[in-house]
Amino acid sequence: MRIDVVTIFPDYLAALDLSLVGKARAAGILDLRVHDLRDWTTDRHRTVDDTPFGGGAGMVMRPDVWGRAIDDVSGVAGAGGAAGDPSGVHLVVPTPSGETFTQRTAEALAREAHLVVACGRYEGIDARVAEHYRATGMRVSELSIGDYVLNGGEVAALVMVEAVGRLLPGVVGNPESLVEESHGAAGLLEYPVYTKPPAWGDLEVPDVLLSGHHARIHRWRRDQALRRTAARRPDMVRALDVDALDRHDLAV
Ligand code: ADE
Repeated sequence: MRIDVVTIFPDYLAALDLSLVGKARAAGILDLRVHDLRDWTTDRHRTVDDTPFGGGAGMVMRPDVWGRAIDDVSGVAGAGGAAGDPSGVHLVVPTPSGETFTQRTAEALAREAHLVVACGRYEGIDARVAEHYRATGMRVSELSIGDYVLNGGEVAALVMVEAVGRLLPGVVGNPESLVEESHGAAGLLEYPVYTKPPAWGDLEVPDVLLSGHHARIHRWRRDQALRRTAARRPDMVRALDVDALDRHDLAV
């Protein structure tokens, strides 16, 4: 998969050289390129923003600068003459006014061949940018990572690239570990986990986990996941498919 991130703060994305995403890049599974938006400015001051039409506080990022940047990195500008196909690219715009980015969104984005992530700053990017690329046939997703406001899209881009990158085949060593985790297919938070030593101070690992009895361990973990989800995320419990719950889950 290829991901191009465009930002006025490329250094923010340096963390993507580390850990699993860094390894995926080194292994050639993820072709991640970070670009400085100011490379597409044309004035001496390398201006990327201006005052909002209609008035109000803050600055808005200019569509002409973003248009040149996105055309170039997505390949639709047709460097060398041949214009690329916009339908091969998915433009992601992190914004607090977007739809919520979830594990389902990460799974859908992980199936794309080429993502372009446009990190806005200030009051955001001129609305014509998303409108223009949608009209070209490009998929465009304006996405929020949660109901709070960050100073720009960079941290949200880090979150999204990591969540998507770890789903690419070959990135997480043991694909089994993707199966049971929180926000996976079961629609539950993950059960609590323990390792050695079996006693730490006066805190002991639950006996059942030392029993070697796989059916009981499975049942205990499932119950813990249900309890934890009920306590922390009642919204997820309401969304559960009741027909998919087993007889034990429904016992009171
Ligand atoms: N930019 C600023 N706040 C954001 C958020 N919550 N999600 C995505 N992008 C953002």
